Amino acid sequence: MKSDRSLLHVRDLRVDVGTRNVLKSVSFDVGAGDLVVLMGANGSGKSTLGLALAGHPRYHVVGGQANFDGQDLLAMNPEARARTGLFVSFQAPPEIPGVKNNLFIRTALNAVRDARGDAPLDAFDFLGRAREASAELGLPEAMLGRPVNDGFSGGERKRNELLQLALLQPKLALLDEIDSGLDVDGTRAVVQLVRKLRAAGTAFIVVSHYLHLIESLEPDVVLRLHEGCIAEQGDLTLARDVARSGFARSPEKQAA
Ligand SMILES: Nc1ncnc2c1ncn2[C@@H]1O[C@H](COP(=O)(O)OP(=O)(O)OP(=O)(O)O)[C@@H](O)[C@H]1O
Ligand SMILES: [Mg+2]
Repeated sequence: MKSDRSLLHVRDLRVDVGTRNVLKSVSFDVGAGDLVVLMGANGSGKSTLGLALAGHPRYHVVGGQANFDGQDLLAMNPEARARTGLFVSFQAPPEIPGVKNNLFIRTALNAVRDARGDAPLDAFDFLGRAREASAELGLPEAMLGRPVNDGFSGGERKRNELLQLALLQPKLALLDEIDSGLDVDGTRAVVQLVRKLRAAGTAFIVVSHYLHLIESLEPDVVLRLHEGCIAEQGDLTLARDVARSGFARSPEKQAA
């Protein structure tokens, strides 16, 4: 951890999905302003970890602790977790028919602003900011007036997640495969936005399978989730080892 202060402190977290125990004992820390990359084979539980921390009702926390910014995260409902400054993006962002994108994001932003003691933004002020952020992310302005993700392409959905991130400016953002489906400009937009928010103090947990993005983000820590636990912790060398040899490699042999 680069910073002395632990923003997120997870200990012995156990999560069941359906009848399966997916996370057996997950422990790690994220320091304020740090960037942590989370790697792991398909089905190892990366999205499960993100959704459990966000408070998704299908992901049952059956043991352990998660402390976020000095508060017991697991005791809060999902809305309170978001208000406290946690943002978790979806690997597959869902459609919300009938709910206009700009109203959805403004409602979320004003809830977060209220928690910070800031005045709510009216529709006019919000639209100004949203248009500016959309332009930076290459998301057509018309997407703001459509229902959330309704008819959006895969890459447009990912850019819409980035728009929410840009406007909400959370304390900690967990980005779940934000780069999958994005074109080269979209991937560049991810790196630029992460750099900008990181400079302003946002910490990140980035889930990605792509070494190019991982290297561009200059992580402080790289974690590998395996068999329901954080099996390895390292730096970019760990990500490069995985890219070269795959998840099936034996860490013991690599170290030798
Ligand atoms: N409702 C469910 N019932 C049983 N098992 C489930 C359920 N939902 C998810 N799982 C299982 O939980 C495991 C972890 O899934 P998760 O989506 O967290 O993996 P992941 O590490 O994000 O993988 P990927 O890299 O493919 O995104 C998978 O084996 C998945 O099949
Ligand atoms: Mg996943």
